Amino acid sequence: MGRIGKLLAAFTLTLAITGTPLMDGFTAGTVFAETNQQRKVKVQEKAGFINVAHRGASGYAPENTLAAFDKAVKMRADYFELDVQRTKDGHLVLMHDNTVDRTTNGSGEVKDLTLKEIRQLDAGSWFSSQYAGEKVPTLEEVLDRYRYQPINILIELKKPELYPGIEKQVALMLLKKGVSFRPGKIIVQSFNHDSLRTYHRLQPWVQTGVLVSLTEYRKGVSDEKLREWKEFSDYVNPNYKLVDDRLVNRVHQNRMKILPYTIRSKATADEVRATGVDGFITDYPELGY
Ligand code: G3P
Ligand code: CA
Repeated sequence: MGRIGKLLAAFTLTLAITGTPLMDGFTAGTVFAETNQQRKVKVQEKAGFINVAHRGASGYAPENTLAAFDKAVKMRADYFELDVQRTKDGHLVLMHDNTVDRTTNGSGEVKDLTLKEIRQLDAGSWFSSQYAGEKVPTLEEVLDRYRYQPINILIELKKPELYPGIEKQVALMLLKKGVSFRPGKIIVQSFNHDSLRTYHRLQPWVQTGVLVSLTEYRKGVSDEKLREWKEFSDYVNPNYKLVDDRLVNRVHQNRMKILPYTIRSKATADEVRATGVDGFITDYPELGY
């Protein structure tokens, strides 16, 4: 570097350190700081963004099966989500709908079938012949399989009003499998906020999330609701159509995080991400990177 170049570099560095204005309200320091700050924010956003595979990586494998959860692990999602219900003989199984009709080769309501009956069903062929023979998993089986794998689990209590006492049953299962005290390993969520409140009372150290549906909150989420939810919830997980910058800020002001569902396209992912959400729930985990 020549003499003039060295002088210029020293001058710029001095401006940067002292914050001397170059123009009104604009300093070399600002240039330095903003560039670094922007980079830092980008890195933090990427590293901190919570990528949740909805019912497992359900865009690629049959929902709520080990195949979908394995795929979520392979795709390096931060969490996979699952739906818990209860069989006639009291076992916790994973199924989204209240009946087995859509996602298995059987029929009937989960609550009217025994575990043995449900385990005989094929939960993969409806999605693709490649997955023929996939079983409906139990919650216990999933906790055993993934408790030491590099993935966390978002458990939805699905229609808990159909299964009295399911909150206690899930809480005991998490305790038995040694996952309830592992920070961040588990989040429990539900559309049924009374059930979630009950869960929080049983295991206040486990993170929880209120699910917020479009049909119930089409007119928006009031400040009163946010204040109510923060008493027993760490996350507000709304339908993505309810999300804008304002809702995100209000959730954050109430010291909760926000994970919208269900993201299925790049365009929606970009739009939702720009509002400052903490992560999202998606069928396609590559959208969360
Ligand atoms: O995790 C959010 C999402 O699972 C809630 O809706 O109907 O897919 O259970 P649903
Ligand atoms: Ca769900």
